[in-house]
Amino acid sequence: RHRMADTGLVETLLQRVEKVDGGLDSQDVATSLGVDHQAIVGAVKSLQALGDVISAEQRSSKHWELTGEGCEIAEQGSHEARVVSSIPEEGMPQSQLMKLAFGKVGFSKAMSNKWIRLDKGHEGGPRIFKTVERLEDLVRDKLLLVQKGQASELEEKEKNELKKRKLLSEVTVKSYWITKGSCFSTTITKQETELTTEMIASGSWKEKKFKPYNFEAMGVALDCGHLHPLMKVRTQFRQIFLEMGFTEMPTNNFIESSFWNFDSLFQPQQHPARDQHDTFFLSDPAQAHEFPQDYLERVRKVHSEGGFGSQGYKYDWKIEEAQKNILRTHTTAVSARMLYKLAQQEKFTPVKYFSIDRVFRNETLDATHLAEFHQIEGVVADFGLTLGDLMGILHQFFNKLGITKLRFKPAYNPYTEPSMEVFSYHEGLKKWVEVGNSGMFRPEMLLPMGLPEGVTVIAWGLSLERPTMIKYGINNIRELVGHKVNLQMVYDSPVCRLDS
Ligand SMILES: *[C@@H]1O[C@H](CO)[C@@H](O)[C@H](O)[C@H]1NC(C)=O
Repeated sequence: RHRMADTGLVETLLQRVEKVDGGLDSQDVATSLGVDHQAIVGAVKSLQALGDVISAEQRSSKHWELTGEGCEIAEQGSHEARVVSSIPEEGMPQSQLMKLAFGKVGFSKAMSNKWIRLDKGHEGGPRIFKTVERLEDLVRDKLLLVQKGQASELEEKEKNELKKRKLLSEVTVKSYWITKGSCFSTTITKQETELTTEMIASGSWKEKKFKPYNFEAMGVALDCGHLHPLMKVRTQFRQIFLEMGFTEMPTNNFIESSFWNFDSLFQPQQHPARDQHDTFFLSDPAQAHEFPQDYLERVRKVHSEGGFGSQGYKYDWKIEEAQKNILRTHTTAVSARMLYKLAQQEKFTPVKYFSIDRVFRNETLDATHLAEFHQIEGVVADFGLTLGDLMGILHQFFNKLGITKLRFKPAYNPYTEPSMEVFSYHEGLKKWVEVGNSGMFRPEMLLPMGLPEGVTVIAWGLSLERPTMIKYGINNIRELVGHKVNLQMVYDSPVCRLDS
């Protein structure tokens, strides 16, 4: 929208328009008021925005103007005239004349005008003498005419000649021809830009003048959304899983019962991970009540008495522990639900599942640990899968991330046997660093679900935060997640591309 011009100038302009019959040229107004033409244009535009106060028709005209050199000549005389006036009666060496600023051009013009003569045979080098006492400096006279605004008194040919000498230039001037409009008035009433609730309530809108909408105006550029680096890296991991033929699991429940989070995974009820030092318990609703009863019974049995070739943990399994609602400590709880569902199918079909979602642990917060983070998990179930299949699929997965050197280290997890920590060689740090955890789900977990004998399930997991921090060079996790995040970091983080 056009900025409102100086009101004083707007009113002066209106007074001028009122006084004339016909109209006014905006350039003439600018000259007579001694203000910049742009200021008058501004006043015209803001009057136009008020409706039909004035009518302004754009026109363009050409006129002649002196160039910088033209102005100098108008003031001090043409180069040739200055040459003549600088030569004394006894003449001047040509070399000396040439040293003067106007010497070269002035010399040749003065020669062709026959105002000077050159004596080449003079001892001490060529010497110049003037041949006239008084001269008519026509070039200067013409320029002075143009300067006075009387360029029309010169012939076209003369003007073009001066233009060729770069003393004159023809400029196009855009101006407005201003006349009174149908609502002409010398006082301006401010137009309302918005219809307010008060105006409607008081009825004052009836007396107000409203500014018409400008549908041609450009809208304000929107600041569009930016994805958080975690979401960008998540997209890449999701892409890798999809390329490998995996299906995403539904992870849309942060709250889980201890049953699905721990018991179904054959994690004993005394396990320290089930303590409030490690897990967040819900106070309302504190308990879950809906479980598949026969499956729950098989889980109780395998914990307390054993079965399926296992001696179990030999303790008094309590439903009250399994009922406790918690913030899920891993997305493996979702994998357990999915594998149970798979076991309920009439005929088993092999599956490849993945999930990337948030989990919660009662951690002591520091630069690399938060009480919530994202877990990436891959699960494959089929007849006869071995540790070799797990190693193979881990190589394939990490290769797609650009990680080629892998090592596996035996480890302990409550619900996998065997279990392996996954290490990769870090070229920058020149050492092996842990990149994930993996294993084969225990039969004590799979068989009570109802999966057929001979079906084995391999799984691996890693956090989303760690690769993201490495990718975006973030050293403190609190700069990535939480109230200390600088939004500029989110805006500035580029698209995530894995160097595979
Ligand atoms: C988290 O653990 C600490 C001890 O490590 C404990 O004092 C605190 O109550 C726990 N928080 C919750 C919400 O359970």
